[in-house]
Amino acid sequence: MCIRSKSLFITEAEKEIYQKTVEFGQEHVFQFWEQLQEKEKQYLLNQLKEIDFQLMKDLAEKWILSTPETEVFSQIKPVDVIPLREDTHPQEREAYECGEEMLRKGKVGLFLVAGGQGTRLGFDGPKGTYPVGPITQKSLFQYHAEKIINLQNRYHCILPWYIMVSEGNEKSTISFFKENNFFGLNSENVYFAVQPMVPCLNEQGKFILDSPYSIAKNPNGHGGTIPTVVEKGILKDARNRGIEMLSYFQVDNWAVKVADPRFIGYHTLNKAEMSSKIIRKNSLREPVGVHCLCDGVYRVIEYSELDIYPQLLEMDSTGNMKFFAGNPAMHIISLDFVEMVYKQLHLFPWHKAFKKIPYINEHGELIKPKQPNGFKFETFIFDALRFTSHPPVAVEIQRLGEYTPIKQYDGDNSVLSARKSMTQFWGTWLKKAGYAIESYLEQNDNFYIEISPIFSLTEKEFLEKQKDYKWEITKQGIAINKDGTISTLL
Ligand code: UTP
Repeated sequence: MCIRSKSLFITEAEKEIYQKTVEFGQEHVFQFWEQLQEKEKQYLLNQLKEIDFQLMKDLAEKWILSTPETEVFSQIKPVDVIPLREDTHPQEREAYECGEEMLRKGKVGLFLVAGGQGTRLGFDGPKGTYPVGPITQKSLFQYHAEKIINLQNRYHCILPWYIMVSEGNEKSTISFFKENNFFGLNSENVYFAVQPMVPCLNEQGKFILDSPYSIAKNPNGHGGTIPTVVEKGILKDARNRGIEMLSYFQVDNWAVKVADPRFIGYHTLNKAEMSSKIIRKNSLREPVGVHCLCDGVYRVIEYSELDIYPQLLEMDSTGNMKFFAGNPAMHIISLDFVEMVYKQLHLFPWHKAFKKIPYINEHGELIKPKQPNGFKFETFIFDALRFTSHPPVAVEIQRLGEYTPIKQYDGDNSVLSARKSMTQFWGTWLKKAGYAIESYLEQNDNFYIEISPIFSLTEKEFLEKQKDYKWEITKQGIAINKDGTISTLL
């Protein structure tokens, strides 16, 4: 510990920050102070200024220095889910039409969470820039953008697109949008906001230095949506535009239906505060959260907690999963509700994860640990559901064409499975249009199909439009561009 005296700090503000670190037992962050350049000193002081020391102390005491008690519920019940039904079902039609009306009236904004670190994928760049298109190499961001363009044309509306990024990927994300000319969107309707960061803590609850002048931090999880919307001007911008609700989605799912009229409609008709889509779990232990009612409070229980609440593994009398409601992380969130939750942010729960966090040793050298050595703290957006005053809306969806998240390169929830799902999903459209693709599918494992969401967002739209074209499919596949021209593999 090199800091011997407060006298090393010149201004009152500096002294005050130092005093605070002492008060909270974190003064080790100044151990290289005397060797730092002026700019580096300022960097460290600025970082410290932004830290909520009391919060970090509370998190360390609750999660690291003691073992938090497991929450006990006297009753856990499945949530009511609006099931999958034919489009012609009267309630489906009513919801769809209501959602379309909200879109036409410009009541819907889009909120994309893209601030994650994407550690499992290990891609060198923001996850949204990943070239997921097997033929076109289109990025995840481009898929989302093309859907937005289709919807804006269809409903003659503007869908402002709010994108949450983090300190680590803000610059590269914005550059990517600029390089790609915002994929044809008006840049005035695309808004980037940096989410809050939280310091990582070691096993003694101390801050971790990842350079002589910086403290290791991580983005505060997708629950950072709530403070980001309120503190970064999104709420204000959205209100000025007459927006009433946000369609929340995650960057890693090329298939997500952004601003889905059916979903918006159910949310609106039920006067809901926050609604969720539901996927039917494909096995009891599928690694997705489960929507349920715990002593009357709507919650999502993480799959890692299934053994704590074994009721969630029960089957019903017909041999089906009692708690089938898996969480694909798609929501409609009313702006009034975001504001209400923000006022109670101190009650928003935190989650900890034991991770490998690069740190510097006493010589200032960076060490990348092989084993977990510290804690990251995050908040999760689904915990906002606990704050709802009446049971939220849960709407079942089909996975194919809606839910294929990318968490890693190969295996489940991967780049490779996402690419296959494109071929499977869009292949059904081509087959219905009379194209024979079975033999290609059988012969070539790397036969791919891509259809630009600008060209068609739905099967109905595709079947109508394709009448004007006659495409030639090769054994490598086909990518139909926004204007109906085709691309093949280079
Ligand atoms: P994940 O929890 O899957 O994290 O995020 P990730 O960053 O994509 O990947 P890993 O866990 O490091 O491998 C789900 C969604 O939430 C966003 C991500 O960008 C992704 O869209 N997210 C996550 C944030 O926006 N901020 C965060 O702090 C964490």
